[in-house]
Amino acid sequence: MKYHIVTYGCQMNLHESEKIAGVLKEAGYTEEAPLEEADIIVFNTCCIRENAENHAFGNIGALKKLKREKKGLLIAVGGCMVQEAGKAAVLKQKFPFIDILFGTHELADLRSLIERKRAQRKTVISVREARAETEDGITPVRTSYPNAWVNIMYGCNNFCSYCIVPYVRGRERSRRAEDVLREVEGLVKEGYREITLLGQNVNSYNSDGKGGMSFPELLDRCASVEGKFRLRFMTSHPKDFSEELVAVMKKHKKICKHLHLPVQAGSNRILSLMNRRYTREKYLDELALLRREIPDCEVTTDLIVSFPTETEEEFGETLSLVREADFSSAFTFIYSPRTGTKAAEMEGRIDAAVSKDRITRLIALVNEKTREKSAAYIGKTIEILCEDYDEKKGMYLGRDEYGRMGYFRSERDRIGEFVDLTVTDANGISLYGVCAD
Ligand code: 5AD
Ligand code: SF4
Repeated sequence: MKYHIVTYGCQMNLHESEKIAGVLKEAGYTEEAPLEEADIIVFNTCCIRENAENHAFGNIGALKKLKREKKGLLIAVGGCMVQEAGKAAVLKQKFPFIDILFGTHELADLRSLIERKRAQRKTVISVREARAETEDGITPVRTSYPNAWVNIMYGCNNFCSYCIVPYVRGRERSRRAEDVLREVEGLVKEGYREITLLGQNVNSYNSDGKGGMSFPELLDRCASVEGKFRLRFMTSHPKDFSEELVAVMKKHKKICKHLHLPVQAGSNRILSLMNRRYTREKYLDELALLRREIPDCEVTTDLIVSFPTETEEEFGETLSLVREADFSSAFTFIYSPRTGTKAAEMEGRIDAAVSKDRITRLIALVNEKTREKSAAYIGKTIEILCEDYDEKKGMYLGRDEYGRMGYFRSERDRIGEFVDLTVTDANGISLYGVCAD
């Protein structure tokens, strides 16, 4: 039997889909296949912004005909959107052909939900409030060799006023350090060459007062695992940034000199309304410390424009922060109201045309910075980890430790190899080069 998984959202969700594939395999769905050929289709949804939700709604709706024509096809919808208050009922009503609706805490139960559905006509709905366990016992079907993701914690306690994540992912739960380490060691032995430690806010790993290793200690231990591999982590919250973290990053060559540190906005008034618990000055001080200790460390960020009441001047502070902080790239978003969050209740929504104009200007500035940095690569030789082959370009591709994408031609399969690439050309965010065969 065949399966197909459609994933929306972040790396966390991509890894969760690898776990969903693991559960499906155990349930007898042994082969991944295109949508039309699948016996089960699973949507792993995201609700962080409205457009992610609309996208999923559109794609699920488009399956009505296939579901009617294909006897025995199962359709399951899971993830963040199903976990939102009242959303499972909306989905069931709008798309009565969905067989299974499961929340963010039911991954390990998916197999039994499938069995339940086979025994009943009605839609199976399972949305738990929380889950205390941090081990799910699932062996993921990893799909991005030579890269592998490892969860170190789940959930978020921060309640940034715009963000729905704490509501749909629950409170922070940290995995035991020994479980994380065992997984990292196993992956390195299996030949994975880049490991990314995942959490909504990795710097608050084990900060529940129950003791246990801090994040810098865990990172130190993971980077001490023998073998040739790279280590990354995401996401870090500026309020929990520490000297210890910088010291560990500096100590280990294996840890990529790249920090993803979402700042969100450049105005202190907006940061306070966002409940971010740091100021622009504190953020810039953190970057200064980081660059003093690790001068060639690259920083990327997330930025939101048009938070309620944001003035043109305050938006200008985001632009000036981007200039000062010297980000190598950034994810940029227009504020999207999420039902149930504090910000959704705030007055002073920003007009859509103004938001469009702000994001356009912000993207232009970010791109200009990225291009400048790419151009500086020309003539340099960098080590990239080859991760894929681009059929269209007829080239292999990989990333350097800063996350910059490099393309090159080769006569033989290079996926999984560290390759020395001499950069000959730069085009926006991508680099092109040659490597010795
Ligand atoms: N609107 C716009 N962007 C958001 N993000 C989270 N919630 C929202 C929202 N309601 C962005 C933040 C976060 C990233 C993962 O998504 O920038 O860092
Ligand atoms: Fe959302 Fe803030 Fe938690 Fe990140 S830290 S997941 S933005 S609430």
